[in-house]
Amino acid sequence: MTPGEGQPAPSGDSDFVVVANRLPIDMERHPDGSVTWKRSPGGLVTALEPLLRKRRGAWIGWAGLAEDDVDTIDEPIVEEDLRLQRVRLSAEDIAQYYEGFSNATLWPLYHDVIVKPEYRREWWDRYVVVNRRFAEATARTAAPGATVWIQDYQLQLVPKMLRMLRPDLVIGFFLHIPFPPVELFMQMPWRTEITEGLLGADLVGFHLAGGAQNFLVLARRLIGANTSRASIGVRSRFGEVHYGFRTVKVGAFPISIDSAALDQRAKNRDIRRRAREIRAELGNPRKILLGVDRLDYTKGIDVRLEAFTELLEEGRADRNDTVLVQLATPSRERVESYRMLRDDIERQVGHINGEFGEVGQPVVQYLHRPVPRDELIAFFVAADVMLVTPLRDGMNLVAKEYVACRSDLGGALVLSEFTGAAAELRRAYLVNPHDLDGVKDAIEAALNQTAEEGRQRMRTLRRQVLTHDVDQWARSFLDALAGTRDNS
Ligand code: ADP
Ligand code: F6P
Repeated sequence: MTPGEGQPAPSGDSDFVVVANRLPIDMERHPDGSVTWKRSPGGLVTALEPLLRKRRGAWIGWAGLAEDDVDTIDEPIVEEDLRLQRVRLSAEDIAQYYEGFSNATLWPLYHDVIVKPEYRREWWDRYVVVNRRFAEATARTAAPGATVWIQDYQLQLVPKMLRMLRPDLVIGFFLHIPFPPVELFMQMPWRTEITEGLLGADLVGFHLAGGAQNFLVLARRLIGANTSRASIGVRSRFGEVHYGFRTVKVGAFPISIDSAALDQRAKNRDIRRRAREIRAELGNPRKILLGVDRLDYTKGIDVRLEAFTELLEEGRADRNDTVLVQLATPSRERVESYRMLRDDIERQVGHINGEFGEVGQPVVQYLHRPVPRDELIAFFVAADVMLVTPLRDGMNLVAKEYVACRSDLGGALVLSEFTGAAAELRRAYLVNPHDLDGVKDAIEAALNQTAEEGRQRMRTLRRQVLTHDVDQWARSFLDALAGTRDNS
């Protein structure tokens, strides 16, 4: 008999398991056969790593490279308080499950079809296969009755698959990216399978109440489930889907950062010295603007560059006294739309420097690499205006990180309305990234704000970020998840 046909799969010994596409560290294999590890990119890792260390859980995920023998079961890597269990992906899995279905189908579909999603049957087939591999690895790791928390769009089928393998588990799912409007989701040829996959969880969480509401509509329309009609509130009022003999809770849980740790770190003397050095290395300009992102077309890096160009052209920003620093982590570099984006951004940067820079004095400083954590914090401390201009973003942790680093109440945050963070950070300079004049006006206002206005805004922003941290996010999700069993 195969697992799922009545016989539960064998279990492991971890009581708390996080499952995510990526492990928090990427493995790098060198030509001499040696292996090193480096932090993996993205907001999910930023949010979950500190939390998992505190809870001494197991983390199941991919190590970021292509491997043969995908059925090999590796020994867990035990790293201080973390137990990391690798799921292997072959080159073909990476091309079809990760670059294909996850990042050329789901990613653009869930981000307002900023680029056109591609619907390819072979990508979908591989998504199913890899999701099953994750489900099986999780079933082997989780102790009887354990709590399993599945993360993000790459693994939407795992809740159902895992429930079939291990009905004893308490299963939560959280989506780190936006959940699209119903009209867009209906494009997806496998919309019913994905909805059913998610309904395998006891609790399905989204950043915003709107995403949760969209999901309820789909459960009704695609599965014919009975759903509660009450509106969903952040962290407290949940929706319900009555699905077979089970009730699935649906809620909104805006993610955050380890605010207190970042606040403390940013006060460190060495970091503040480094922030002054950065200003000096940039030629001590009157104003420094900063962008920090994965190099992704959702982030609106082109929008801020265009706005900056026009402000320079119009003399509303002083080319001799203003510098824009753009730190861009390489991302998904084999996906065509990401290659095109990189070319476009680098062309734009070259154009601006050609028009407005001087020898040894560019107006845009662009780094295409991740910078070490302390260096990034020093940049946050040094920047007068933080530019966060996505066309769509589930949350955007960079905005919260900047605020957490500004205990001096200096600086200003320009923030797109189309980020999850905008729902909480109302005292930022909020912009519609499709309205270039509006973006320019907001940047100009942020550059010229009085010290007192800046302090008032930053004080309010910090109150929000410091009182809503990632611990609170996790606690509220896990309490709600535990509650789903108490009531059954
Ligand atoms: P996403 O999850 O889409 O990448 P977020 O803004 O939510 O976006 O999270 C990005 C995370 O990656 C943040 O913790 C941010 O500090 C980090 N990050 C982004 N760009 C860089 C960079 N160039 N160097 C170092 N860290 C970066
Ligand atoms: O939530 C956004 C997200 O896709 C995470 O799932 C992921 O860890 C991060 O961005 C980075 O993307 P990738 O894993 O594709 O490099």
